[in-house]
Amino acid sequence: MSRKGFSILPGPVLARRTTMGLGGAALVEIRVEDPLCLDDLPDALRNLGGRVETLGGGSNIIAADGELPLTLISVAGKEIRVESEARGRVAVRAEAGARLPALLNALAKAGLSGLEGLSGIPGSVGGALAMNAGSYGVEVWSAVTSVQVFTLGRGTLEMYPEDFAFGYRNCALKTGGPFLITAASFSLATTESGAVRARMREIMLRKRATQPVGEKSAGCVFKNPAGASAGKLLDEAGLKGKGLGGMSYSELHANFMINNGHGTSDEALELLELGRDAVWARHGIRLENEVRIWP
Ligand code: EPU
Repeated sequence: MSRKGFSILPGPVLARRTTMGLGGAALVEIRVEDPLCLDDLPDALRNLGGRVETLGGGSNIIAADGELPLTLISVAGKEIRVESEARGRVAVRAEAGARLPALLNALAKAGLSGLEGLSGIPGSVGGALAMNAGSYGVEVWSAVTSVQVFTLGRGTLEMYPEDFAFGYRNCALKTGGPFLITAASFSLATTESGAVRARMREIMLRKRATQPVGEKSAGCVFKNPAGASAGKLLDEAGLKGKGLGGMSYSELHANFMINNGHGTSDEALELLELGRDAVWARHGIRLENEVRIWP
């Protein structure tokens, strides 16, 4: 019989697993420990029921309070390995459960350049890939050579950027259907450690000056509409600093919603709609969520 490469944990509480610090308990969490032993996973998912969602670092989620009819999948592996060097480029393999800041730190230490623009983005490597995270002109997929992926139909296999279609904060398999990224290989340019760190520090300073880094937030809550900044539109509609209960739009950047520690999911969702309505009334633009709402 095959070894089971995952464990099933009851009732993960989203308030403890998301950077927004909101949300009740999902049905179960399936923690993937060995991506090469997932033959039993499709049956387990069928038996457990609930809508299946992937949980990475929880940095782009507003989860509702109460009992949530969700089965969450997470990847346990956090290993980051600097592998081989050829013609000035180095391969780095990261398991999807590794934190993106941990990956960037490893790259800085090894003097590997290419992803500095992502400094200050929280979340896991898997989550960043799944939503094609980006900032300051750099998208995480720009340095990817291959990813290890699990799909219900094909099991675990290595796939390549050309197997995916990318959009703004979005990534999908060209063949369609759900997928779970369990690890990724990156190719980076060798330079010196000091230069990479200096660039990352510069990005972090820019971020700290314009975004509420370190607060309980889920990053930008709305996508930027074509040719405009959702933050600017919200700001102009008077939402900057606007509060509701324990939640508010940041004073620093109006597209960040902050939990002061006592906020509730209902308040967050109501404030989200308030922002959307205000921008519609002021600008005639309907903002779309960037943040995922669970369930
Ligand atoms: N602005 C305002 N008021 C505000 C916020 C912004 O007037 O409250 C103005 C700024 O002064 C600037 C313009 O709007 O002139 C754009 O602002 P910023 O440079 O902060 O960029 P952004 O479009 O608001 C995007 C991404 C961020 C990413 C930054 C940097 C989205 C929704 N946002 O923000 O991504 O960090 O660029 O690359 O794509 C995220 O996705 O969660 C996120 C934070």
